[in-house]
Amino acid sequence: MNLIPQPKQCTVREGQFHLTPQTVIAAGPQAAGVAGYLARKLFPATGWNLPVRATRAKGHPYIFLALDSRLSGLGAEGYKMEVTPVGVTIRAHAPAGLFYACQTLLQLLPAAIFREAPVEGMDWAVPCVEIVDQPRFAWRGAHLDSCRHFMPKEFIKKLLDLLALHKMNSFHWHLTDDQGWRVEIKKYPRLTEVGAWRKQTLVGHDYAQPDEETTYDGLRHGGFYTQDDIREIVAYAQERFINVVPEIEMPGHAQAAIAAYPELGNLSEPVEVCQRFGVITHVFNVNESTILFLQDVLSEVLELFPGKFIHVGGDECPKQEWRESPAAQARKQELGLKDEHELQSYFIRRMDDFLTARGRRLIGWDEILEGGLAPNATVMSWRGEKGGIQAANAGHDVVMAPTTYTYLDYYPTEQTEGEPLGIGGYLPPERVYGYEPLAKGFSREARKHVLGIQGQLWTEYIPTPKQAEYMYFPRLTALAEVGWTAAKHKDYASFLARLEAFFERLDVLDVNYRPV
Ligand code: ACM
Repeated sequence: MNLIPQPKQCTVREGQFHLTPQTVIAAGPQAAGVAGYLARKLFPATGWNLPVRATRAKGHPYIFLALDSRLSGLGAEGYKMEVTPVGVTIRAHAPAGLFYACQTLLQLLPAAIFREAPVEGMDWAVPCVEIVDQPRFAWRGAHLDSCRHFMPKEFIKKLLDLLALHKMNSFHWHLTDDQGWRVEIKKYPRLTEVGAWRKQTLVGHDYAQPDEETTYDGLRHGGFYTQDDIREIVAYAQERFINVVPEIEMPGHAQAAIAAYPELGNLSEPVEVCQRFGVITHVFNVNESTILFLQDVLSEVLELFPGKFIHVGGDECPKQEWRESPAAQARKQELGLKDEHELQSYFIRRMDDFLTARGRRLIGWDEILEGGLAPNATVMSWRGEKGGIQAANAGHDVVMAPTTYTYLDYYPTEQTEGEPLGIGGYLPPERVYGYEPLAKGFSREARKHVLGIQGQLWTEYIPTPKQAEYMYFPRLTALAEVGWTAAKHKDYASFLARLEAFFERLDVLDVNYRPV
């Protein structure tokens, strides 16, 4: 059936359903929202404004969507779909399931359904099938770094549409880093007035050359999302059943914020928004005023992002400035802490308390295990699987995002000649596809704490949306199947065969994927 991700059960029947201008979209109670989305998706290519009604109409072909309490076994995201020559019937326990059924229906139609202008002379046929489907994991995510290179709002929306097509439900949006602060904060306007812009950026690999030999492009880089932009994107994501997880980095990767407000740093000399990449030594200080500053920032972030999870980074925070800072050392003493790792752990715990008191959950990269994990924290395991295994075995929820299988900024091919400059590494689609998130090492109990998987896209060497697409696809397509499809139904040869049809959809959607 050329569906990606592969559904749980799919039985092909004789015959076809044909979408016509007479087709009625019928939506039972609480299905109208998804029905409206489907009508809007079918409109541009067909040119037909199919009506959404409460019931089916006699003699009219139909697409019927309804919630069904008997389907609780399929979870909130599962669905049942039956296509017969007279109509399509979709049932699910919750609206998210109806939504994923609509994604399946769109994939059962000719790829031209994704065109944005009417396509004449098409037979909009859907094969008769019965599908029962539900995802393996609850967290099926993609991450995007909008800091190293700013990514325009229209691209974020395109990406969200692509995530929906892949039945992915989480967008981890990396919004602050050394090279740029990208989210407007009303109380601290300099974060974007100053922190969103760097004078220039380096050319080539920074780790390949000493500082004095570094060449810069002499061009100002930057941009930020206003709070209105953010609200627009979050609403767009919500309509597609995607949670947006904002990342506000601390205590490392903080140079842009320190450039804007020098009192947040450890040094007496000011710093600029960073023009190179890598792990930077300028980090937030551990003064009470800085913790309160960041909690103020989080307060505005909570208003903008209604999802449960708030990412606070926590990775790659060099401790050198804290070791050399009398204020940081005094703070360590006063708190009775053993070392600087415990100081970082204290910092993160303060954020955990803050978020927990507001009904949210803190998530951070696996370095937050060092110095002791905050009690309510969820861990995103990136430096391999070890951190995730350790945290899950200790009863914490985890998201698996290990470099070896999910770092989509790595080169997709071993032979890098002719490829756009990348960060390094090598991660072919087949290895992404072969990832088994419940690796050895998780206790039986701990397996329940593996929320799911996520693909990362860091953009040091990815200056444009087109290049981002090239790195995402089709590796994110492979990861979507890792997240959705039961391990026993995964098969790389079958995936590659289905991918050919999937590429036709990506062609129509003007996605700059890398052919396999
Ligand atoms: C990371 O890649 N530093 C999380």
